[in-house]
Amino acid sequence: MAKPSLKNESKIAQAVRHSFTLTDNETGQSWEFPTLHGTIGPKVIDTRKLYSQTGVFTYDPGFASTASCTSDITYIDGDAGVLLHRGYAIDDLAKNTDYTDVCYLLLHGELPSPENKLEFDAEINQHTMLHEQLARFYSGFMRSAHPMAIMVGVVGALSAFYHDSTDITDPMQRMRAAHRLIAKMPTIGAYAYKYSLGQPFPQPSNKLTYSENLLRLMFSVPTTDYEINPVLARAMNQILILHADHEQNASTSTVRLAGSSAANPFACVAAGIASLWGPAHGGANEAVLNMLTEISTKDRIDKYIKKAQDPDDKFRLMGFGHRVYKNYDPRAEVLRNTCHEVLDELGIHDPTLDLAMELERIALSNDYFKEKRLYPNVDFYSGIILRALNFPTNMFTVLFAIGRTVGWIAHWKEMMESSESRIGRPRQLYTGSTKREFTSVANREHTDRKISWSWLWGGKKNGS
Ligand code: ACO
Repeated sequence: MAKPSLKNESKIAQAVRHSFTLTDNETGQSWEFPTLHGTIGPKVIDTRKLYSQTGVFTYDPGFASTASCTSDITYIDGDAGVLLHRGYAIDDLAKNTDYTDVCYLLLHGELPSPENKLEFDAEINQHTMLHEQLARFYSGFMRSAHPMAIMVGVVGALSAFYHDSTDITDPMQRMRAAHRLIAKMPTIGAYAYKYSLGQPFPQPSNKLTYSENLLRLMFSVPTTDYEINPVLARAMNQILILHADHEQNASTSTVRLAGSSAANPFACVAAGIASLWGPAHGGANEAVLNMLTEISTKDRIDKYIKKAQDPDDKFRLMGFGHRVYKNYDPRAEVLRNTCHEVLDELGIHDPTLDLAMELERIALSNDYFKEKRLYPNVDFYSGIILRALNFPTNMFTVLFAIGRTVGWIAHWKEMMESSESRIGRPRQLYTGSTKREFTSVANREHTDRKISWSWLWGGKKNGS
């Protein structure tokens, strides 16, 4: 990859006296591998020289036991249900700060001083508008297009417009790209929604906070003044903060992998949006509401709990389980309270919330969920809040993408500044044919190929 400037020195502490020994039971040969220590969290075996020294790879589909990089940004202790950004607990941030504070924190490593904050907010505000030609892109999409399809296209297209922020070797340009992405995402997302309705595109307002501006872009119409409801703006602010970063999840790893080949940041974030779209990741809150609609009444919960446990049934309890959290997701905890606040403010009695709370209660006391340590994740309550705020379900993942953009770009920037970054290139355990003779088309036998989706739901279908 191109050599980024301003590389940081490695911060990993290597424990020379502590190592792991790998022994080949066939030959009796042994190798020592050092352990590396971060500031907190489990130690890591340094296998960078594994192949060159031993001639073997590790096999770790889904990277459940593999650290792909070092990072100073976010720490998760999934067993304890802890999430820290630059050392600050997520619930402290969600309750006490605003989203641009968290953006500054993730990008720069510290919370902003009052002067830093003024300067940062002013910088973000400078970039909130969309180029007129970019706004015309929307008319090329079907009105019925999923807004995430539009997001992938429009965010990718930013690299065709902002040539003064695509030189990834220039730290100033990297920062400008970061600010542009954070600033433009609410406008890009809101326009996808406005386009689906056939309503005019409003201009962003720099007098408002980030979350107020987002709500106004989504819901204002030129014929009426849009009144900001502070309770709803606070809920929006919390949702954005709670989605801002989550270390090396699928979409962030996608951004890092795309960036490792020296692709520009707009293209990398478009790749992240594509990865986020799937129902196993960012699409889950939409799936939670669909599932609650399908369950519909409390007396049907048991049936769905049984379905979720049945190895021959593909159904999973959406909004439950997490690759890292084997405890209550701390973000779900915050959102459960916010959910009540929002519904109280709006005077809504939403039977879906009652259903969700009952489902949570039953699942948490069920042996299958207890044994597999499946707890509600961030998506379990966010859908109910977003629906109360009036967002259609297909916009839920868009809001996740808006909040997560700062995390993606902070990781991309960190990678560009790290002395250890290399092009991402996993290896594989080859299970295909060994070398065989070529056969001409006339001599080939017909084969009936069936597609298997079992990878999506892990072992639940036992490989079917
Ligand atoms: N309902 C029922 N069973 C489940 C669930 C669930 N929600 N989640 C996991 N399991 C079971 C699996 O069937 C598997 O059982 P097995 O050991 O008998 O094979 C076991 O628990 C482990 O599951 P894996 O799929 O191996 O766990 P993984 O870490 O790969 O998956 C994931 C995590 C994708 C989040 C999973 O829990 C899931 O599909 N949850 C529902 C979708 C969801 O809510 N996604 C949002 C995640 S949070 C986010 O992206 C912001």
